[in-house]
Amino acid sequence: MLDNAPQLPPEISRRRTFAIISHPDAGKTTLTEKFLLYGGAIQMAGQVRAKGEARRTRSDFMKMEQDRGISVSASAMSFDYHTPEREFRFNLVDTPGHSDFSEDTYRTLTAVDAAVMVIDGAKGVESQTQKLFEVCRLRDLPILTFCNKMDRESRDTFEIIDEIQENLAIDVTPASWPIGRGRDFVGCYDLLRDRLELMDRADRNKISESIAIEGLDDPKLAEHVPAELLDTFLEEIEMARELLPAMDHKAFLEGTLTPIWFGSAINSFGVQELMSGIAEFGPEPQPQSASPRQVSADEKKVAGFVFKVQANMDPKHRDRVAFVRLASGHFQRGMKLTHVRSKKPMAISNPVLFLAADRELAEEAWAGDIIGIPNHGQLRIGDALTEGEALKFTGIPSFAPELLQTVRAGDPMKAKHLEKALMQFAEEGAAKVFKPSIASGFIVGVVGALQFEVLASRIELEYGLPVRFEPSQFTSARWVHGTEEAVDKLVNANKQHIAHDNDGDVVFLTRLQWDIDRVVRDYPDVTLSNTKEMM
Ligand code: G4P
Repeated sequence: MLDNAPQLPPEISRRRTFAIISHPDAGKTTLTEKFLLYGGAIQMAGQVRAKGEARRTRSDFMKMEQDRGISVSASAMSFDYHTPEREFRFNLVDTPGHSDFSEDTYRTLTAVDAAVMVIDGAKGVESQTQKLFEVCRLRDLPILTFCNKMDRESRDTFEIIDEIQENLAIDVTPASWPIGRGRDFVGCYDLLRDRLELMDRADRNKISESIAIEGLDDPKLAEHVPAELLDTFLEEIEMARELLPAMDHKAFLEGTLTPIWFGSAINSFGVQELMSGIAEFGPEPQPQSASPRQVSADEKKVAGFVFKVQANMDPKHRDRVAFVRLASGHFQRGMKLTHVRSKKPMAISNPVLFLAADRELAEEAWAGDIIGIPNHGQLRIGDALTEGEALKFTGIPSFAPELLQTVRAGDPMKAKHLEKALMQFAEEGAAKVFKPSIASGFIVGVVGALQFEVLASRIELEYGLPVRFEPSQFTSARWVHGTEEAVDKLVNANKQHIAHDNDGDVVFLTRLQWDIDRVVRDYPDVTLSNTKEMM
């Protein structure tokens, strides 16, 4: 059916590493849960979002997340998925949904080969979906679309497709077509396999009944589709075939065409078809851009990069985990890899794979996989691990902090503890932290306002340290680059504006554009930048 024969060695070609992008509330958590259910990673639906005593996935461990119902931290989960022909390994990288956490999300998207875009059938393309889609577009990521909540009143199918095509400037090809809407929704016609999938409203976890249909004039259609829906359905299908592009695998891989499935995650409907789409359409682990050369998944030697660092994942163990996307090779536990930034060897003796309900030691992993490496702070976002080659992976974005606030410990005696906590979060990439050279305290820079609240909550939860964030006298931060002499000259004459970030790099803080213009004019030997390169 599809021109998607495996290109890579079997262990690698069966891997699918992807993320789900959506606007909050579209159904990402519910869909994730159903993925895990069909992947056999959890036994019972409800474990991912279960409240109270039940187990939680790694993406749901924080109190703040539970209180607010938002997912703050990204995590990765691995599970298997079988089609009749092949066995796949899915690596689902979770992305936080709230716009204030988009920094994390953007970086996460550098670690995946494809994205599933979930939209709500009644709401269509919402703001956060659009933003995340733009990031996927920058990387030409292939996108599979799932139009959720079809069990409820939804928009007209053509209208939904038109909106995606117009707002996101991507072609849409229907992989399935809904029959009936809202209360009358009975199921979908699988256009890729010519099957009728009927939704069971009585059992939410049951896989839908699937009936093979031989073309649209097969009398079996009339046996299963209520007469009042059949004509509209047939008309729509005819129009869709005439007006919408057919599946084109090359266009999908290039990110210019997205197949869309209609379904209802909560009713487990359409989820399997989407999973089969991910399996069959791919892509396989893709080459990763790096300097001086790109890295292909089938290279023998292991190479990978850190796209996320998370501290205190388990409040019981004060550990820090670096999430590494393996770009190439066959990794085995105990391997010695070179930490390229420090040029030091690192024995990776207790790497973890994240399975739905727990983490597990990773005895081995292949290109495309995400492994977690517990460490004491050596591994930072953007770092490369290789078998010796000095590779630098490119493309992990760094963001300009747009909001600055001063932070103080409720108890002034705890300033040292606060410093430690802040440094940890800075290394995780959760915030930028600046220590002013003459004033006391710290200034924290973030991209979205809610990040301050998350930080305050995490510092209290993870370090037992109540803190206050207060408005800062500064509103902009610029990293200062130049020769030591040129930078010193600027620093000495502008002490009240100078701070150092967690790496000790010099930062110029101000509230006036005028100050920045003045530095540019008076210090031609230095340059100011509003982001700091991660890689
Ligand atoms: P998110 O992670 O994208 O934010 O969405 P989530 O899965 O949490 O789903 C948001 C809400 O939409 C939840 O309801 C969920 O039950 C509901 N939902 C998900 N899929 C479907 C679907 O196919 N049909 C319908 N009708 N609803 C769906 P909630 O009331 O916010 O939470 P809960 O009380 O159900 O836990």
